[in-house]
Amino acid sequence: MKKQYKAIIKLSKETAAKIAAGEVIERPASVVRELIDNAIDAGASKIFVEIEQGGIASIRVSDDGNGMSKEDLEICTQTHTTSKIKNAEDLLSLNSLGFRGEALASIQAVSNLEITSTREGPAAWKLALNSVSPARYNKGSSVEVKNLFANFPARKKFLKRPQYEAAQCRQIFIEKALPHFEIEMRYFVEGANRLILPAHNSLKERCLAAMQFKEEEKLFYQIEQEGDGFNFSLVLGSPAVVRSDKRNIYVFVNGRRINEYGLIQAINYGAEGYFPNGGFPIAFLFLEVAPSRVDFNIHPAKKEAKFEDYKEIHRAVSSTVAHFYKQKTVSSLLKKDEFDPTFTESLGFPQDEIAAKPVYDWSEKTRLYDSMLKNNFAQSVAGDFKNNYDKEGNNNFSQNNFHRNNHDNEWNNFSRNNSPQNNFSAPQDFPQADFKFLGQFCGTFIAVEKNDALYIIDQHATHERIIFEELKANLGSSQELLIPYKIETESEKEDKHIRKNLDDLKKLGFNIREEKKGLWIISAVPIRWKGCEKDLYKDIVEAGKNPEGFMHNILATTACRAACKDGDILDPIFAYNLAVKAFALPEPL
Ligand SMILES: Nc1ncnc2c1ncn2[C@@H]1O[C@H](COP(=O)(O)OP(=O)(O)O)[C@@H](O)[C@H]1O
Ligand SMILES: [Mg+2]
Repeated sequence: MKKQYKAIIKLSKETAAKIAAGEVIERPASVVRELIDNAIDAGASKIFVEIEQGGIASIRVSDDGNGMSKEDLEICTQTHTTSKIKNAEDLLSLNSLGFRGEALASIQAVSNLEITSTREGPAAWKLALNSVSPARYNKGSSVEVKNLFANFPARKKFLKRPQYEAAQCRQIFIEKALPHFEIEMRYFVEGANRLILPAHNSLKERCLAAMQFKEEEKLFYQIEQEGDGFNFSLVLGSPAVVRSDKRNIYVFVNGRRINEYGLIQAINYGAEGYFPNGGFPIAFLFLEVAPSRVDFNIHPAKKEAKFEDYKEIHRAVSSTVAHFYKQKTVSSLLKKDEFDPTFTESLGFPQDEIAAKPVYDWSEKTRLYDSMLKNNFAQSVAGDFKNNYDKEGNNNFSQNNFHRNNHDNEWNNFSRNNSPQNNFSAPQDFPQADFKFLGQFCGTFIAVEKNDALYIIDQHATHERIIFEELKANLGSSQELLIPYKIETESEKEDKHIRKNLDDLKKLGFNIREEKKGLWIISAVPIRWKGCEKDLYKDIVEAGKNPEGFMHNILATTACRAACKDGDILDPIFAYNLAVKAFALPEPL
């Protein structure tokens, strides 16, 4: 779809309030993500990303998209200024990656930001140091972010080595490149071209070019499937391409990679039985859902989404995958040239839609299968090595993302709560503390040295307690849902419980109404509430059975679900903040 240029406007207070807060810029990779998103949204056909010193010294993203006018440049770095929506209802027909109008503002707050842009080159405008002056640029925009966190020494201290930050930037670059296969994308590090992705013809081509798997291209397939209100493409490795973990299962929804455990599971269910000995497939799911049926407004970095037709999508994905592997295996077991379609009929998907492409002839297949077996052995050795390597890099990466949500709130709340009586002179922008932060260990504890004593903080229990206290202190703050949750009760008794507790539920931040007998619509949840419809049912109906501690129960389960878990590897800033807050609890530890 051709992206049209639109001028930037400032969102009204009411609209801004309906939009969940965006994430705080935490590291260079967050900048890279936001800038690539903007270039894609501007309809670019070429995007170049250049980083220096892991992106800490400089990040430049240039595109040949629609560009910005002088007026746009004048306001683009204010908060809630966007060309992508005008009101919250526009989220229901959104086809852009951005919508909050916050990214440039938050980047500018922590770096030197310069934007050169033109609506029609070579006459262009350049925004630098809050003033716009004439410049030259042929087409599109070039956004340069220098000296990230230069005035925020403590946050800078928590960045890792440039190599690590560069690896994070590269990972984001790849995640953005995968679904947008038709865009030419190049990635430069210290001036050297590290990855060139020309415009590709298909998702499969792009996935293979970007991921650089060792297996032959012939062992990968692209499948298209359509459902009611959604469709998806799957790029799948054949059963001969095996990995020892789920790290190569990617899920994208409307061009964004999301952490959707359920859909990763759906792929695994489908592949079950075809990957013996704990093996996993390589799979990329690119799901397209009508914008009105999916809500990204629930996560600061849009890494989680809520679907209206979740069950159908789940079912379609797992049966498509199962069907594919069944077909492949059955056809390779049959000692005949022709593939017999009846073997897979029971799965209920029309043959022609699901057939893996290409369908090659049997002799070719036998030859391939032989070489696959041979390759496979070599690969599993090489693969293990690579996986271990990936483990280090990616593990931290996903954990960071996972906790970003919490971390942001921590950070914001922190600056509010920061108590002046602390005499430790931490840099301004950072929580002050009178202890020495030692770090996280065993994936479960945080160690801190204070007054010559060693404190060991249980991360889950402490985080749960902190969230619990915060929830109690902020009763009633809620997040509106674009697509309301629905719960169906099982008996009149349950309805009565809800009715009786309506006031308390409202106090907690739920917006709930009875649509008809036995059907309740929940259009807002407490701000830190996490979970799915089932959890909601548990919280509202089952907790309702114990009227005594109704509020307490919901707060406690909300806190438990939102808290980091044992075994989570914590971002150091997050762990540090947790320690600061642990000591500030009314009855610490
Ligand atoms: N590379 C770009 N090309 C054209 N316009 C851009 C670019 N980057 C940012 N903009 C404009 O600046 C606005 C603000 O950007 P941003 O702060 O990222 O918010 P959002 O993307 O949520 O709208 C965008 O809505 C867009 O109009
Ligand atoms: Mg943006």
